[in-house]
Amino acid sequence: MAIRNIVKTGDDVLLKMCRPVEKFDEKLWTLLEDMNETMNAANGVGLAAPQVGLLRRVVVIDVGEGVIELINPEIIASSGEQNGVEGCLSFPNEWGLVKRPMHVTVRAQDRHGKFFEMSGTELLARAFCHEIDHLNGVCFVTKASRMLDPEDMEVDE
Ligand code: CO
Repeated sequence: MAIRNIVKTGDDVLLKMCRPVEKFDEKLWTLLEDMNETMNAANGVGLAAPQVGLLRRVVVIDVGEGVIELINPEIIASSGEQNGVEGCLSFPNEWGLVKRPMHVTVRAQDRHGKFFEMSGTELLARAFCHEIDHLNGVCFVTKASRMLDPEDMEVDE
């Protein structure tokens, strides 16, 4: 496993559409393991492949209950609403208020290509939306109703 470099805002790779994964091989597994290690080292709750420079539909999420690997994920249902603070490892020291659904169900493939469905609420629902947005070249700053002052955020840490 290896920690990969996290692409930061300003790099075009964050604005591009990712291609579906077709091969569920050792190269994918290495990517997943590296992304997980990179996310943990940066204390993130999610990481999408374009954030390590790869235009592939691969996401890892960990909201504190273990890593979730999503290959070719799609949101198949969402309901409710939450308005909360969001950040991103590609936008250090930037936080914004973003409205997201309260409940989200995704359909995705696991590292072996097997399809599964998973539902999440609150932070996990937010993470599903945020990371899948990355696969479509969308970053949270374009969805924020307003950005917050970094000094306000540091108080919580
Ligand atoms: Co992000």
